[in-house]
Amino acid sequence: MRNPKADEVISDVLTDREIYELCVQTNFWTWSAQAKVEPIAVHNAKGVYFWDIYGKRYLDFNSMVMCVNIGHEDERVIRTMVKQLYELPFAGPRMATKPRALLGKALKSILPEQLDHFLYTLGGSDANENAIKLARSHTGKFKILARYRSYHGATYGAIALTGDPRRLTWEPSVMMGVVHFLDPYRYRSTFHQHNPDISEADFARDYVKHLEEIIMYEGPETIAAILIETVTGTNGIIIPPDGYMQGVRELCDRHKIVMICDEVMSGFGRTGEWFAFDHWGVVPDIVTMAKGLTSGYAPLGAIAMRKEIAQAFNEKVYQGGLTYNGHAVSLTAAFSVINVMKEDKLVDQAREKGKLLAKLLQEMYEKHPCVGDVRSIGLFGVLELVKNRETKEPMSPFNVNNPIMLKLRQYCLDEGLYLVIHWHKILIIPPLIITEEQLQDGFRIIDKALEITDAQVEV
Ligand SMILES: Cc1ncc(COP(=O)(O)O)c(C=O)c1O
Repeated sequence: MRNPKADEVISDVLTDREIYELCVQTNFWTWSAQAKVEPIAVHNAKGVYFWDIYGKRYLDFNSMVMCVNIGHEDERVIRTMVKQLYELPFAGPRMATKPRALLGKALKSILPEQLDHFLYTLGGSDANENAIKLARSHTGKFKILARYRSYHGATYGAIALTGDPRRLTWEPSVMMGVVHFLDPYRYRSTFHQHNPDISEADFARDYVKHLEEIIMYEGPETIAAILIETVTGTNGIIIPPDGYMQGVRELCDRHKIVMICDEVMSGFGRTGEWFAFDHWGVVPDIVTMAKGLTSGYAPLGAIAMRKEIAQAFNEKVYQGGLTYNGHAVSLTAAFSVINVMKEDKLVDQAREKGKLLAKLLQEMYEKHPCVGDVRSIGLFGVLELVKNRETKEPMSPFNVNNPIMLKLRQYCLDEGLYLVIHWHKILIIPPLIITEEQLQDGFRIIDKALEITDAQVEV
C-alpha cells in the first residue's frame, strides 16, 4: 500500500533540533551501537575548523575521517565541481569523459612512471577488493599476506585483509586465503624485547626475515600478493625502518608476488611525500588510494597499477565494476584537489610542519609520564599512552576504548578540539593546511587533557 505521505513534497527548512532528532530517528550508524550514538550535529566547515549547529567551533585534528587533507570548503574545488555538475553530472563507467582524462593525467604526474593505469572505485575498501582480484587473476595464485596491525576496509574482502580485531565479528564468513604476519613495530617489537637498542638496519632485516619465513611456510607458489599499509594508520602510525620496504620489494620480486601498498590514509601528502612509499624509493606493483584523493569533497577510490598488470587483461575480460565507478563529479574533485595541492605546495608544507608536530609530540613525551611513545612522519602522528613506562602496559586494554581514554577525548571536545582515539593511542592527523599556531593551539588542549591520564600512571 502506498505511504500516504509519498506524494507530499518535503520542505528543506528544519530547525536545529529537527536536524538532530531526524538524524537520530532515521539513521543507522556505522561502527556504532545504535542506542549509544550522540553525533556532533555539524553545520559548516572552513579550513581546519568545523562548527556545530549551535555555533560551537572545533579544531579538526583528524581531517574529519583522516581525509580532508586540503582543508574544508576550498572554493577552488567547489567551483570546479559545480562547473562539472552543469556540464555533465554523470556518465557510465565505461565512457570516456574529460574528468577521466584529466585525472589520469594528474595521477600520472604524481606517481612513479611505472604506475600508469588507473581503476576508479567508490572508496578505499573496494580499491583493496579490486587490487586483490587483479593480483589473483594476474598471478593465478590465491593467498594474500597482510599484517596484523592493519585496517584495509569493511567490505567482506577488505575486512578479511584487515588484521585488527574489527575483523573478528564477521569471522568465519570472510574472504578466504588471507595470512597475517607481524608489523615492524619497534616500541612493542616481539623479537626485540631483550635488545631494544638494535640498529635500524638489523631491526628491518629481522622483520623482512620474519616475512620471508612466512612466505616459505605458506609456499611462494600459492601467494598472489603482499598487501601492506606503507605507514600504518589507525593502528598507530607504525613507520617502517629504512630497509623494510626495500626488503618487501625484493621478496616480492624474487617470488613473483604482487606488492600492494595501501595508501588510503598515508597517501596524498600526509607523510610529507605524495605517497609514503616515496620515502623509501620503492615502486609497488599496485597502489590503492582514497580519502585524500578527493579530500572528502566527493567519494572516490583508485587503484594505480603497472602496465604489465593492466595488459594481462588486454584479451581477457576484467570481471568487476560498479555503477558509480569513476563518477564524473568525484573524478573532477580529485583532479581539482591534486591541483590545489600542487598550487599550495601542500606536500612540502606537510613535511615542514611535520617538524613542529614531531617537536610538540616530543614535548608531551618529556612532560607527561602517561606518554609511553610518540611517532610521526609529516603530519601523521600518534601519542601512545601507557600506565607504566617500564612495563609499557597500555592505558587502555587491547581492543577497548576505556572510560579514561573517553574522558580524555571528551575533555578535548569540550575545549573545541576534535580528534580520534584508538584504544590507548591519540591520533594526530590534521589537514595539511594547518598553521603552526593552530597546531600549537591543539597541543595546548592535549597538554591539559594528558593530566587526566597522568593521574592513572602507576608509580
Ligand atoms: C589504510 C586504509 N585502507 C582502507 C580503508 C577503507 O577505506 P574506505 O573507508 O574509503 O572504504 C581505510 C579507511 O579508514 C584505511 O585507513
